[in-house]
Amino acid sequence: MSDNITIAISKGRIFNEALPLLAALNIRPKMDPDVTRKLILATNQRNIKLIIVRATDVPTYVEYGAADMGIAGKDVLMEYTGNGVYEPLDLQIARCKMVLAAPKESKKVNGRLRVATKYVNTTRNYFADLGRQVEIIKLYGSMELAPVLGLADQIVDLVDTGNTLKANGLVPVATIAEISSRLIVNKAAMKMKHELIKPMLRELAAVVNRS
Ligand code: ATP
Ligand code: PRP
Repeated sequence: MSDNITIAISKGRIFNEALPLLAALNIRPKMDPDVTRKLILATNQRNIKLIIVRATDVPTYVEYGAADMGIAGKDVLMEYTGNGVYEPLDLQIARCKMVLAAPKESKKVNGRLRVATKYVNTTRNYFADLGRQVEIIKLYGSMELAPVLGLADQIVDLVDTGNTLKANGLVPVATIAEISSRLIVNKAAMKMKHELIKPMLRELAAVVNRS
């Protein structure tokens, strides 16, 4: 059995909020991903490495075993259509909500509602559960612009403080999901490396429960 563990993580919000959890397990990256161009970061633990990937790519790296574990937002996991990873722990970091939002002064919509989002699958499932057919427009960011410019009637996006919605004249009209980041584990690694992974999961769960 290899005693190496690779953890996939995105830089920015999730990396920054995960640092104290990793530190509580005495895992400290040797470099800051905002400073180095390296994408594989060694840590103070000889056998533990972090790999820096796009937030939406974390489940892919973990599913295929390119990383043993990863940290991914629930929004990303809900949208992911792969064959599955274990999701044993809610790390309670990068918390926000996924909402449906509309212009404050909503106009009457004639015909099908047009919804702009980067969460196409989640949005389709949400409206399907309501028995509503909508037209979904895929965007990769700045969703809040779409209703302002008439590209869509409403959006599905993440909200934390609500400042971005407010600054663009939008209001939330429904909460689709409460979002936080989850620890995910490759299925084969969970079996093959359980002597390493199980204690990490136990310790992380204890740290999360304490905080
Ligand atoms: P990508 O680089 O793949 O486009 P991204 O730009 O969405 O991803 P981040 O902005 O770092 O990456 O967000 C990573 C995760 O943090 C999201 O998947 C979500 O779970 C969470 N998140 C996003 N926005 C917020 C927010 N405003 N407040 C709290 N958590 C958030
Ligand atoms: C996220 C999200 C919203 C914003 C909400 O964007 O897509 O635009 O945060 O946060 P608020 O309610 O506190 O204003 P982010 O800051 O990650 O920018 P990006 O997705 O464009 O990188």
